[in-house]
Amino acid sequence: MAKTVKRGRHSLSVPGPSNVPDRVLRAMDHPMIDHRSQEFFDLVKHVCTGMKRVFRSSGPVAIYPSSGTGAWEAAFLNTLSPGDKILGFETGQFATLWRNMAERHGLKVDFIPNDWRHPIDAAEIERRLVADKGHEIKAVTVVHSETSTGIASDIPAVRKAIDAAKHPALLIVDCISGLGVHDYRHDEWGVDVSICGSQKGLMLPPGLGYNAISKKALEANKSAKLNRAYFDWQPMVDANETGSYPYTPAIGMFYASKEAIAMMDEEGLENIVARHDLLSEATRRAVHAWDLELLCADSRAYASALTAIMVPEGVNADAVRKVILEQYDVSLGAGLGKVAGKVFRIGHLGWTNELMLCAALAGVEMGLGAAGVKYKSGGVQAAMDYIGGNNSAHGR
Ligand SMILES: Cc1ncc(COP(=O)(O)O)c(C=O)c1O
Repeated sequence: MAKTVKRGRHSLSVPGPSNVPDRVLRAMDHPMIDHRSQEFFDLVKHVCTGMKRVFRSSGPVAIYPSSGTGAWEAAFLNTLSPGDKILGFETGQFATLWRNMAERHGLKVDFIPNDWRHPIDAAEIERRLVADKGHEIKAVTVVHSETSTGIASDIPAVRKAIDAAKHPALLIVDCISGLGVHDYRHDEWGVDVSICGSQKGLMLPPGLGYNAISKKALEANKSAKLNRAYFDWQPMVDANETGSYPYTPAIGMFYASKEAIAMMDEEGLENIVARHDLLSEATRRAVHAWDLELLCADSRAYASALTAIMVPEGVNADAVRKVILEQYDVSLGAGLGKVAGKVFRIGHLGWTNELMLCAALAGVEMGLGAAGVKYKSGGVQAAMDYIGGNNSAHGR
């Protein structure tokens, strides 16, 4: 059979990498410059200052040529020593992978189990910290927006739990799919290290990993003994003061970052959050109308970056995704780890809008039928009704 040739725009609806604005793509199309020139120093300073605004942080932001996984590793290497104990929480696949990384670095992880359908239980964190009389736990490491489940946890509640237990542990947060999506506040929430990657809410291609660093984390850095070289904070933070870089930087990504930050400044963080809230609620309404179930079983903890949808018993979610991709050219996120084959994920983060979402939802709705899934029609209509009725709440 002849291969079908696709026409028109692909609907990239995975929860990262997200769609990159044309403006950002054009900004990247820039000749390389000397990374030891004043022009580049100015660019680095501009981007570092902009990223502080996005993290809502007054401290340094280290920007690595790495994916989010590198930024996870940087946070561990710079704050902890071999044999240190950390407290984690099983929000889903990313929390699990991060736990595995910690163990490979010789850290001892107390990993609170969870069912992948509920957010972090801050009261349990408090109990474990209270029980840790000798303050052996050096860091509480949590995922803010768990991209494998579509569940966002309450980071201020985790901070309160640490304070209520009067525990000195650092608070290290993966906000990889939460930054530029939720109202994330590094300083105000008392986070010590916020970890992010470029390819989600920040509207950039994959390729940069970030650590926003508190004073307390910088202090911990002085005595942390895990081996570090490439990911060492100090040379990065020192160099960034003057706009320089400890090694050859990802120059194109800095041009892209400058443009993406300009776009975030133009829209404003509050409006960005409102847009993601609107699109995620519209998606959930579509799911309810289809009579399918959300993986997130707690209505206070919906992630705004993506929605994970359970398929009925006996249906393989990957087969459904394949039909939707082949027939309607929509890429959806696969179920990961424990929920592989049981869920598919719709990303609605970064550079996206109402019509891009409705197009993706239409592809899903038609694809559910084509894949033989038992569902009710009317999901796209429910999303449109919600969006149409909420234009004033949109804030744009
Ligand atoms: C919450 C979360 N943490 C960590 C990662 C890993 O980041 P990367 O794939 O950029 O290395 C991801 C990637 O999707 C993620 O969503």
